[in-house]
Amino acid sequence: MFEPFKLTESRTENETNFLENLEYLIQPEKCRTEAENIAVLANTSSFLFWFLQDVNWVGFYIKKKDQLFLGPFQGLPACTPLSLGSGVCGTSMKEGKPKIVNDTSLFPGHIACDKNSRSEIAIPFAGTILLDIDSPVKNRFSKDDLIFLQKICNILEKKLF
Ligand code: SME
Repeated sequence: MFEPFKLTESRTENETNFLENLEYLIQPEKCRTEAENIAVLANTSSFLFWFLQDVNWVGFYIKKKDQLFLGPFQGLPACTPLSLGSGVCGTSMKEGKPKIVNDTSLFPGHIACDKNSRSEIAIPFAGTILLDIDSPVKNRFSKDDLIFLQKICNILEKKLF
């Protein structure tokens, strides 16, 4: 049985707890198949969705040639495929760099899958995968969020097939 753990006042404590629990949640030690990859990404998207405050979408896109296909996620159904180089996700993946968008209405070419999304963070990793998180609140994502989420991406990168 899984229950989301209770948040404390300490951000560091919460994030340390999250990372420890994530390692436990996403078995096996090292994925050997695409099916195991999907299970790991699915549980990570759910775990993050329950952990983060003020988010309405958490999920992964997977690059194949010059398109990004929707992977495991939590939230409303989302656009797929996305073009490499377009929108927040496509730009982040093409540049190979994370993007924090404080106000999605000001990002040229932002692709609005959920009309409630106001800010967004996208982090590409492992060459072909992108973690994307949307918030209904402007300026939701900070440098500290990026550092925390990059730790998650690093854990995933080591595990995935
Ligand atoms: N807003 C993204 C599209 C993906 S969704 O937010 C889930 C973009 O502009 O690439």
